[in-house]
Amino acid sequence: MCGIIGVTGDEASCELLLAGLELLEYRGYDSAGIAATDRSADPATSVVWRERAAEHAGSIDHLRGRAGSAPASIGAAVGHTRWATHGPPTEVNAHPHLDCTGRIAVVHNGIIENYRDLGAGLAVRGHLLVSATDTEVLAHLAEEQVAAGATLAEAVALCLGSLRGDFALAMIHAAEPEVVVVARRTSPLIVGVTATTGIVCSDVAAALATTRQLFALDDDQVAEVRPGSVVVRDRTGARVEPEPVAVSWSVQRALKGGYPDFMSKEMHEQPRAVGDTLLGRVQADGTTEIEELVLGDDELRRVRRVVFAACGTSYHAGLVGRQAVERWARVVADAEVSSELRYREPVLDEGTLVVAISQSGETVDSLHAMREARRRGARVVALTNVVDSVMAREADGVLYTRAGPEIGVASTKSHLAQLVMVEVFALHLARVGGRLDQGAVVSVAGDLLDLPVALEDALDRRATYEAVGRRFAACENFYFLGRRAGLPVALEGALKLKELAYVRAEAYPAGEMKHGPISLIEPGAVVVVVATRTPLWEKVMANVEEMRARGAAVVAVADAGDEETARLVDAVLEVPHVAEICSPVVNVVPLQVLAYTIARARGNDVDRPRNLAKVVTVE
Ligand code: M6R
Repeated sequence: MCGIIGVTGDEASCELLLAGLELLEYRGYDSAGIAATDRSADPATSVVWRERAAEHAGSIDHLRGRAGSAPASIGAAVGHTRWATHGPPTEVNAHPHLDCTGRIAVVHNGIIENYRDLGAGLAVRGHLLVSATDTEVLAHLAEEQVAAGATLAEAVALCLGSLRGDFALAMIHAAEPEVVVVARRTSPLIVGVTATTGIVCSDVAAALATTRQLFALDDDQVAEVRPGSVVVRDRTGARVEPEPVAVSWSVQRALKGGYPDFMSKEMHEQPRAVGDTLLGRVQADGTTEIEELVLGDDELRRVRRVVFAACGTSYHAGLVGRQAVERWARVVADAEVSSELRYREPVLDEGTLVVAISQSGETVDSLHAMREARRRGARVVALTNVVDSVMAREADGVLYTRAGPEIGVASTKSHLAQLVMVEVFALHLARVGGRLDQGAVVSVAGDLLDLPVALEDALDRRATYEAVGRRFAACENFYFLGRRAGLPVALEGALKLKELAYVRAEAYPAGEMKHGPISLIEPGAVVVVVATRTPLWEKVMANVEEMRARGAAVVAVADAGDEETARLVDAVLEVPHVAEICSPVVNVVPLQVLAYTIARARGNDVDRPRNLAKVVTVE
């Protein structure tokens, strides 16, 4: 969480920083701040210029209004957009933080776990810390090293050994007005250098206006970035030659493109995201090929168990993956929330394949679950949307979704791409393991390849989903029910409604209701049920009857034209019929629109729901 950016050289300007911060804002928007050195000031005595604002989503505009007071010739600058961890989202806690002299400024993403001990030591040594953050200690620790004669890069390197936690940081110092120093451990940090400029940031999107030749810093490396050059050193101080790669993403794909918000745009892009993810991986004749998976057929045949590890929406994709792997490949499969898996002392051995699912490829719990699995001897694969993300780089193999940049905090197109990718993987595993006969493989491949068209059909029905959303927009208690492939859809529908509309929404296996939760059902409750035609449809509808008998209004995700289901419920969200195991890809769409509509009706910002950030880099 939090986005950081730094720039040095000819292009260093408040506008470049602020434009970058806008692209990083999905990582947190509690406050924002910028700081800069002045090339024309006396390096021996000058201080850094700084502005901060804690105006929630309006912080960047606020800073733009104050940019006029920035030095006319900026040497180096850093910026930050914050998701508050330590200390409330106030201006005093907003980054950049300064040292006692006001000559060093730092921005930081992550958590310095031992900041209390470090802060206590600094206080004893006479430093005055003014914020409640874990970050501020970094500026003061660097101050001590600089006072002892270190350059800024040396100071940062010397400090790293005393830090516990996960972090990416960028610092500037008035004494070296054209230098930005960055370091990282676990949290991502991207660096790019042109002939006249250097840029550092949390996410490639913020660098693309400057350069496409970028590299990711590795754990415990320190980079000293100057206009036109960069020196990278590892934890031993040895020089490392970075290898920039050309990034193909376009900035345009990270803009709204005429839609009122990113979520609308990203929902609209879902057929393409799914189509692109399938491209070249599955053929109509049943051939499957996943180049970046790396694990060969023999290795896959040795897999005795697959564990999907993920958080939030990505976990729901893991639940679908579990069903697909068991159904098609007949391999034991589990899905687990990463933050539980990593601390549970799980039994994972060389026969286990852990598939860590993460849109961002940065989620700290999933990254650590992956590391824990590797320590225990399992093979690990990262299923992610971000090429060369931290998880992609650490895994044995990768399953890339091709949803393109997703900016809205609520996962939409990336989730559909995850769903289809876990299914492609399950089919591949089944095919190489010889667990499905050729006819079945061809049939599943056909089902998958039909999905982009089915999604177009579902999205064409958006107005009808919105009408249902408006009808129930004032309700406060929602329950989402499903069985088998319908359960992950119900879980995802409830999560979307909670995070966007701030409405209580609980999801259960439909068969679980009478084991307790049914006590909550009374007039005024809304039950959203996944009731497309599957072998379990009758059981689902029996559960629907139980809900209606207790006064709940029932909204059903139902097959288009299924009049029988429509007669038994209060409202329907019609979807085109697809094979059951592929159905989550389509059935989740009306629930996204439902949550979107209710959130908008309540006046909420769908792209920036309260208290959330797109990328969760803290535990
Ligand atoms: O980047 P990840 O997929 O690892 O993120 C995991 C969750 O934070 C994420 O799926 C979250 O639940 C969704 N953005 C909610 O819509």
